[in-house]
Amino acid sequence: MKTQFLQKFYQKTRLDRIDALRLAEAISDEDANLLKEGLTIPNDIANNMIENQIAKYELPLGAAMNFLIDGKEYVVPMAIEEPSVLAAASSAAKLIKQAGGFTTRVTERTMIGQVALIDVPNLELAEKTLLEHKDEILQKANDSKPSIVKRGGGAKDVVVRILPADEALETPAFLVVHLHIHTLEAMGANIIDTMVEAIKPYVEELTGGKSLMGILSNYNTECLATAECRIPVELLAKGEFSGEEVRDRIIAANQLALVDPYRAATHNKGIMNGIDAVVIATGNDWRAIEAGCHAYAARSGQYRSLTSWTKGENGELVGRLTVPLAIGTVGGQISIHPGAQFNKRLLGNIPAKELESVIVSVGLGQNFSAIKALVTEGIQKGHMALHARSLAISVGAVGSEIHEVSERLRQHQHMDLKTAEQILLELRKQNEM
Ligand code: MEV
Repeated sequence: MKTQFLQKFYQKTRLDRIDALRLAEAISDEDANLLKEGLTIPNDIANNMIENQIAKYELPLGAAMNFLIDGKEYVVPMAIEEPSVLAAASSAAKLIKQAGGFTTRVTERTMIGQVALIDVPNLELAEKTLLEHKDEILQKANDSKPSIVKRGGGAKDVVVRILPADEALETPAFLVVHLHIHTLEAMGANIIDTMVEAIKPYVEELTGGKSLMGILSNYNTECLATAECRIPVELLAKGEFSGEEVRDRIIAANQLALVDPYRAATHNKGIMNGIDAVVIATGNDWRAIEAGCHAYAARSGQYRSLTSWTKGENGELVGRLTVPLAIGTVGGQISIHPGAQFNKRLLGNIPAKELESVIVSVGLGQNFSAIKALVTEGIQKGHMALHARSLAISVGAVGSEIHEVSERLRQHQHMDLKTAEQILLELRKQNEM
């Protein structure tokens, strides 16, 4: 990629940004035209995606810059309605690039399907019997989806969990059978659900219990992605704060989010600003990813920060984020949504494991930007410019008025709709004179 064409991307007009992406060879001429026309879902496709469809509800799509991940540069598509998220992601990525970029690790992409059983007469015996018949269970699961097996995927393991009855919660004992499934490039919801349904009668027969349900688990502890960055303190100084102070304040901010669920929820929301935006842009199921990440944040029994920020051996700031990321690059809506298809090409048609690396890095970068701002100048300063623009647009400013109204608004003591309205009126009066 010729990244020299992408400099000062945010200062360009929308059309100039598209040209810059083309000159940088991040997109083809054809895709540049597609972007200029707008990436809308044709009505007949939208009508077949959901029931009772009446319109399309859009989100802005932005391109985050400067991401260097495992030595490779990426322009990252992010679909999000919230101001400042793309700016924060790009500025974090710029600083982390100076520090050598993100390094990532991803586990084998193993998905989990569950069959939950009730009324099992002897839980221990049932567990033993199920494990003795592991091969037969796997065979039945794989027979229900031969196409994935042919491509090298399929059900690979069976795990049995006994959940004892809980008097306080007034819950009975459950026996839960997990299938570990390789879904290759897909997130694989349909594959997993078909397989668990297929083994239900057999596990009932083996255990003497009654199956309550069979469904995938979104708490995907077997499909984890980790990103790490190491930032020397020289790159961290901000305003009156030295690099060491910023490092220590970021570490303290993370410690607060480890012990206080009230802070942890907001801290993790900042991470999800980045994760969700890429998950949505790539046509993936962000509710599934959200559910999995928050469950993972509570894995110790208390809801905690998903990131860790610590001091490295050389005094540098070390950031780490591990999250379950059961995303896919095929299947679901990905192949029919023009935006998801475009974003797949923008990312260079990377495989699912690499997409996980990109997503987890964006999450870590997003968290870095948010907590760095919070522990130094505060979050509002950076938000003000975009907030002023959206107020200007809300009161009806158009074209060059948007810039003019938002600049005047920023000088004003009260940045609200009423003031924006007054400023727009004054501006229009002046322009009439
Ligand atoms: C806002 O969308 C996200 C933040 O609140 C995250 C955080 O507080 O860490 C700024």
